[in-house]
Amino acid sequence: MRKATMTKFRATALACLAGALWLTGAPTMSIAQDASNPQKPALPKDDGEKRILDAIAEARQGQRYANVSDADGRLLRQLTEALDAKRVVELGTSTGESGLYFSLALRKTGGKLYTYDIDPGRVEVAKANFKKAGVEDLIVITLGDAHETAPKNTEPIDVLFIDAEKPGYDAYLRELLPLVRPGGLILAHNMRRPEPNPKYIEAVTTNPDLDTSFVLMDGAGISITLKKR
Ligand SMILES: C[S@@+](CC[C@H](N)C(=O)[O-])C[C@H]1O[C@@H](n2cnc3c(N)ncnc32)[C@H](O)[C@@H]1O
Repeated sequence: MRKATMTKFRATALACLAGALWLTGAPTMSIAQDASNPQKPALPKDDGEKRILDAIAEARQGQRYANVSDADGRLLRQLTEALDAKRVVELGTSTGESGLYFSLALRKTGGKLYTYDIDPGRVEVAKANFKKAGVEDLIVITLGDAHETAPKNTEPIDVLFIDAEKPGYDAYLRELLPLVRPGGLILAHNMRRPEPNPKYIEAVTTNPDLDTSFVLMDGAGISITLKKR
């Protein structure tokens, strides 16, 4: 077959395949699939995971408040599950989207999420989302100013996720770093946008006890800080 005919044949075959997938209702990809963004939608391995992913998809249709992107949320799950984290502390529950990503990991590690928020309305929505996902037993929500409430719990932390008010990031680090266990992770959201907290970035990049990377490929960006052993 000549090259031009081959190309035409391939294009027709791809068009037929796309049409067949559309007609049979096969899952479509929600994000661009190319070399610059090879990530595909998460695939559920079991019914429990499907229920959580469905709850995330539904929550993303509702009112959002600078919640994590899908890529950032999946990174939270991947790090938490890889670390076999038992105790995750989150500052900034909001409507619970990041909490749902954490729960994908915690149902496997046997751990719990302790999450803090100051806004009663968002906390109510988060509770409903956790219930819908069937993960309410994995999550403890505390309402109030996290600078006061979070340090009251003095158990060692495997993963600390900072995602409350941006000017407070460096204070949260001072308040909770002593509780993060050696080998634990401190993750912080919004390292690309809106304005990241410069004092926080300074603190996690100049302390010899810490090693920090910035993952800025998608969404608002996350920093990953290892508390060295
Ligand atoms: C960006 S949202 C969190 C998004 C959430 N982590 C997610 O991805 O689904 C920030 C949240 O921090 C909360 N917040 C702001 N200041 C706070 C404080 N001092 N203590 C606790 N929560 C606070 C806000 O009410 C808001 O819901």
